[in-house]
Amino acid sequence: MSRAHRVAVIGGDGIGPEVVTEALKVVAASGVSLDTTDFDLGGARYLRDGEILSDATLDQLRGFDAILLGAVGTPDVPPGVIERGLLLKMRFELDLYINQRPFSGVAPGHSTPHDFVVIRENTEGPYVGEGGVLRKGTPFEVATQGSVNTAHGVERCVRYAFELAAKRSRKHLTLVHKTNVLTFAGDLWQRTFNTVAKDFPQVATAYNHVDAACIYFVQDPHRYDVIVTDNLFGDILTDLGGAVSGGIGVASSANLNPRRTGPSMFEPVHGSAPDIVGTGKANPVAAILSAAHMLEFLGEARAAEGLRTACVDAPSGSTSQVGTEIASRVAKAAK
Ligand code: IPM
Ligand code: MN
Repeated sequence: MSRAHRVAVIGGDGIGPEVVTEALKVVAASGVSLDTTDFDLGGARYLRDGEILSDATLDQLRGFDAILLGAVGTPDVPPGVIERGLLLKMRFELDLYINQRPFSGVAPGHSTPHDFVVIRENTEGPYVGEGGVLRKGTPFEVATQGSVNTAHGVERCVRYAFELAAKRSRKHLTLVHKTNVLTFAGDLWQRTFNTVAKDFPQVATAYNHVDAACIYFVQDPHRYDVIVTDNLFGDILTDLGGAVSGGIGVASSANLNPRRTGPSMFEPVHGSAPDIVGTGKANPVAAILSAAHMLEFLGEARAAEGLRTACVDAPSGSTSQVGTEIASRVAKAAK
């Protein structure tokens, strides 16, 4: 057996620690050994001593094989502080340029399951925080918020999506953007997409405007196999993807550095849900599926498949009952 994988665990705020506990329980049942180190980060930590994510802590994180995160954010901290200072800082500084979010399930009003993956660019777009404010609080206030799209950043994201599509059975990739309005960024994305497509003649391609894609997610999700899109469109579309695929409680996410120059980070799509903390109502499946992706990325494909299989027809019950039942399915299958 290979050495234990070194995993930094950031339970975070609200239901984060609850769902991460269940994910680790399930991984343990698979027989894969993890050497975990807990990092106390998030809104609660920030309120206690002001640390969000220091450069020293970030350097420590760089030494791990992966990061497993529950959820961060608390209503007591103004919007953006923890998101930008912790989550986005990790995405940017660790160069986690791919955000991969798979969706499978039966959408409301449909009878057959769909199965598609959204590849969201994770280090550029409006998320870089370009812009500023002038004359704040006056009637003459000016606020600008730019979107940064680089040839390099778009190319590596689009190429990753083509590589993924080429490995899947349907071999179909859709670019989602808003090229009819965002003509500068949209043109860069479309040209890059067309150029990279030439290296993947086996992959069929399509283009949808993001507003039309919202309709198709609901009315015809079966048309999709792999979708590639920019950071903000991907953020919005993947919440909708969750809503048509069994809910946000089962939506998993992987923030990947495919070059492996540092750890990748795995987290459920959902937030810290402070309203249900401690009630046992949090669904741990999204965290368990995120851990499955982590195992796959760490080279434990068999165990990852075991976790995914065990999440099909997940049992109902409290957070820990669901985790325990899935863990026992995993343990049984791993024997
Ligand atoms: C997500 C979240 C984050 C995002 C927030 C919390 C910054 O919504 O992971 O989808 O917008 O990327
Ligand atoms: Mn989001």
